[in-house]
Amino acid sequence: MTQPSPTATPQATRSEREPEVRSQDQAPARQAPIIQVTGLEKTYITARGSLNLFRGLDFEVEAGAMVAIVGQSGAGKSTLLHILGALDTPSAGTVYCASTDVAKLTQRQAAAFRNREIGYVWQFHYLLPEFTALENVAMPLLARDMKKREALQLAANWLREVGLEDRSEHRPGELSGGEQQRVALARALVNNPRLLLADEPTGDLDEVTAGRVFDLIERLHASHGLTSILVTHNLELAARCTRALRLESGRLTPLADLPKTDLPAGSN
Ligand SMILES: Nc1ncnc2c1ncn2[C@@H]1O[C@H](COP(=O)(O)OP(=O)(O)OP(=O)(O)O)[C@@H](O)[C@H]1O
Ligand SMILES: [Mg+2]
Repeated sequence: MTQPSPTATPQATRSEREPEVRSQDQAPARQAPIIQVTGLEKTYITARGSLNLFRGLDFEVEAGAMVAIVGQSGAGKSTLLHILGALDTPSAGTVYCASTDVAKLTQRQAAAFRNREIGYVWQFHYLLPEFTALENVAMPLLARDMKKREALQLAANWLREVGLEDRSEHRPGELSGGEQQRVALARALVNNPRLLLADEPTGDLDEVTAGRVFDLIERLHASHGLTSILVTHNLELAARCTRALRLESGRLTPLADLPKTDLPAGSN
């Protein structure tokens, strides 16, 4: 079940909020994993029969890790992110994410959990076209009833953090693809979540812009003490993460363990 939400101010980073507790002569205590998945199964019932995506999948993610997940189209990468972020439910197994048994949440609890703990970034930015960049970033704060003035101030801080303070009055249609994703990142993180779940966040960008957006994700990941899971088709970007896993036939395998021939150039 959910634990009480942290009492820190929205501006504080996770690392500021949750200082490591250790006495002088002690080695750092091993933290419980922030994500713990056991026996995960997901079955979709379709007109053509049932589709089993995961077959008893187990995996853990340590707090602070930056994990890349690659895999063929249809392997279940998005579905896995949706389950971790309480947007979808598993058919079997347990999924603990940010101290929460996500499969047991009611819809209302799931919405609160997502708002508090998860920052989502998608391949497409999904910014609201009729609102400015500043208003788009402020939206999650307004959704939890923060006063407009305070929300806009925090949103402005975030736009500065992603290097877009001079684009705050632009509507999404007046921003480049990379700028749109940077606004989307600011919006994802404005509530100061513990987890960043990003589904092909650079998939719609050219190589140079993708690299810059990835640089920003890396920087925000480190400076805000995030745990990040990034689905990507880009092996070079995956290799920059602390762990890179391939989802295939319902299993996650470390990329480093796979023979090079398994990864033809340009594939995922
Ligand atoms: N609601 C659903 N009902 C039935 N089948 C579904 C549903 N959602 C996804 N699927 C199927 O589950 C499989 C995994 O989908 P998913 O979107 O997780 O793949 P993916 O690895 O993210 O692929 P891509 O790289 O193309 O984004 C696909 O074969 C898809 O058709
Ligand atoms: Mg997908």
